Amino acid sequence: MKELLLHSTFVEYLLEELPKEEQKLVQMAIEATDRSYANYSKFHVGAALLLENGEIIIGCNQENAAFPAGICAERTAIFAAGAQYPDVPVRTLAIAARDPKGELTAEPVSPCGTCRQVMIETETRFSQPVRILLYGRNRILAMNGIRHLMPLSFTEF
Ligand code: THU
Repeated sequence: MKELLLHSTFVEYLLEELPKEEQKLVQMAIEATDRSYANYSKFHVGAALLLENGEIIIGCNQENAAFPAGICAERTAIFAAGAQYPDVPVRTLAIAARDPKGELTAEPVSPCGTCRQVMIETETRFSQPVRILLYGRNRILAMNGIRHLMPLSFTEF
């Protein structure tokens, strides 16, 4: 028997400590929360994704009366980027959320398992890690690659 330790690294930032380009991305994720259609959960999530060509694509959650038909902010942004710029790698993804009172969450909101799997696919597809910025009013958590949030993930090849 052998115990194996998996190692994840997260770096905690205040907004003003991030490079200007990343501050802008976080700001755009915050703004994207205002466009979310969260008629059922009232939990408004925004995502902003920076592509290697400098383009920024935003996404927000889109809910539906038939619950599984809805989709998270992260996948909205990733799939929109895939549709518009299929050959351009994703560099960074910022995520922010407002609670049902309309307040930005104090703590970072971490992506759901399905979105993590889609992020893994994005990294595999472009053979490079995606930097992830999770916004909270108290702190921003950053990591260089989804593997920090999803070790031992499934990839076919
Ligand atoms: N949601 C996201 O958009 N991203 C996440 O990472 C977690 C959850 C959405 C899905 C649903 O519309 C609402 O938040 C409540 O779960």
